[in-house]
Amino acid sequence: MDSVNSIKELHQRIAVWRAAGESVALVPTMGNLHAGHLELVKQAQQRADRVIVSIFINPMQFGVGEDFDSYPRTLEQDAAQLQAVKTDLLFIPPVQEVYPRGQAAQTVVSVPVLSDMLCGASRPGHFSGVATVVCKLLNMAQPDLALFGTKDYQQLLVIRQMVADLCIPVEIIGIPTVREGDGLARSSRNGYLTAEERSLAPALYRTLCETSAAIAEGNSDYRVLESEAIQMLEAAGFRPDYYSIRNAADLSEPEGETESLVIVAAAYLGRARLIDNLVVDKC
Ligand code: PAF
Repeated sequence: MDSVNSIKELHQRIAVWRAAGESVALVPTMGNLHAGHLELVKQAQQRADRVIVSIFINPMQFGVGEDFDSYPRTLEQDAAQLQAVKTDLLFIPPVQEVYPRGQAAQTVVSVPVLSDMLCGASRPGHFSGVATVVCKLLNMAQPDLALFGTKDYQQLLVIRQMVADLCIPVEIIGIPTVREGDGLARSSRNGYLTAEERSLAPALYRTLCETSAAIAEGNSDYRVLESEAIQMLEAAGFRPDYYSIRNAADLSEPEGETESLVIVAAAYLGRARLIDNLVVDKC
C-alpha cells in the first residue's frame, strides 16, 4: 500500500488513476482503526475502483479539555490493517499540511442549526471543526464518493448538508454501525473503558432497542420514553449527556405521526463519552 503525506503527492497518485478512467472513494478517519472503519473500506471497494483512507486527528474538532492529546495514535497497526484489506492509498497529512496558516487563521465551514443541537450543544465548535476538515479533505482528494459511519448520525447529517449547501460534487454514503456481539457500537473511544465499564456499556444499545420497541408498539409519549431511558442508563452506571427522539431527516423535534424517527444518545461511562443511535420507522 502506498502512503503519502502531502497534498501534492496525493494529487499525483490520483491523477494517474483519473487518467486511466478510474473512480475514487475517500474514507476519512482519525485512525485507531477498528472493524467499523474496515467495513467502510470494504463498502468503498465495492463502489469505486480506488480507495483512499485518510488518517488525520483533527485538532479543530476537539474542545478545550477534550481528549485530543490522549486520542489513541496507532499508525503502525492502522497501516497494517489497511494493507491487509488492500487499500490503494493511505493519506496521512501533518497538521501544517491541513492548516498551513494555523487554526486561528483557517477559513471555517459552519453548518447552522444542525451543528448547535445534541452533540453540538455539549461540544461547542465540534461540528464546524468536522465540517471544515471534511470540506478540505474532499477538496484535496476530489473523490466521486466519501463514506462515513452512521454511528455518528449527527455528523453524517452535518456533512450531507455541507456538501449540498456548498455544491461539492461528491456522493456521501452512510454505512450502518458495526457492533460487537453484545450490541456495543464499535468506536475508538471504547478503548477508554475499564473491564468493568466495558461489561456495562451494552446497556446503551439495549436502552435504544427498548425505546424503539415501545415506539413501534404505538407509544408516542416521547418525553416520558426519554426520561425512562435516562433513568435506565443512570441505573446502569452511565452519566447521560442527552437521550432524544428526533426526526430522522433533520434531527428536529418530532411533530405529527408519519415521520421517520431516530433515537440519539450520548452518555459518559467513566472517561469514555459513548454515542449511539437507532432509526425507528413507524410507518
Ligand atoms: O468521524 C471521524 O472519524 C471524524 O470526525 C472525521 C469524519 C474523520 C473528521 O475528522
